[in-house]
Amino acid sequence: MARKLRLGVNIDHVATIRNARGGRHPDPVRAAFLAAEAGADGITAHLREDRRHISDADISALIERIALPLNLEMAATPEMVEIALRHRPRACCIVPEKREERTTEGGLDAAGHHDALKPMVRRLSEAGIRVSLFIEPGEHQLQAAKSVGAPVVELHTGAYCDAEGEARARELARIVEAARIADRLGLECHAGHGLTYETVGPVAAIPTVTELNIGHFLIGEAIFVGLAQSIRRMRELMDQAREG
Ligand code: PXP
Repeated sequence: MARKLRLGVNIDHVATIRNARGGRHPDPVRAAFLAAEAGADGITAHLREDRRHISDADISALIERIALPLNLEMAATPEMVEIALRHRPRACCIVPEKREERTTEGGLDAAGHHDALKPMVRRLSEAGIRVSLFIEPGEHQLQAAKSVGAPVVELHTGAYCDAEGEARARELARIVEAARIADRLGLECHAGHGLTYETVGPVAAIPTVTELNIGHFLIGEAIFVGLAQSIRRMRELMDQAREG
């Protein structure tokens, strides 16, 4: 029996456009309200160490004003843990972060950072925050996520979305297998990165995946059809894929 599939709308790039000029427009909080009306189940925002898009003030405003649960994406640093503990979002997704990257490239090395991650996951969890680790779809990282005590993993779908033809089918098979292993290990399984109307269906169809986090494509598509319409269409495609 397929579980309910939630859509988390990532609003980082509303802030990217705002920051291109400074000032307040467009406002990520307004985007979050609109996303809620259009069928989003949650709002995702990545507070990067260099604050290139979402700012600390955005996180405060989102926590205070939106009704949807906030999923705070963050690097595994003491500064970010303190911010998360101060704001207590519903969820935190721990991601790898490099200053020179354009977006989150690759998953977290949960195995390599086991000893640093374990106490962080524990502190966040004790504060009532549901912690996920953004990892590559592979057994080694899934086992490591389990071993550091994370209740949730988010599988990186970037390689699948970037690939074409047979290579894409191979990447999809890795995600399907990883979702199966996550289920066996008792880990809640999310997925995201790079998803579009074209690539979302096969990932949404995996019955044990319970949340997709999607941003860049939705905000880009909003330029042409409006944000509400781009989110509604994504929601429709997810639901259709899920229903088979
Ligand atoms: N999930 C995680 C962990 C991410 O870091 C990102 C990008 O911020 C996304 C999902 C959304 O990716 P995209 O913007 O490519 O849809």
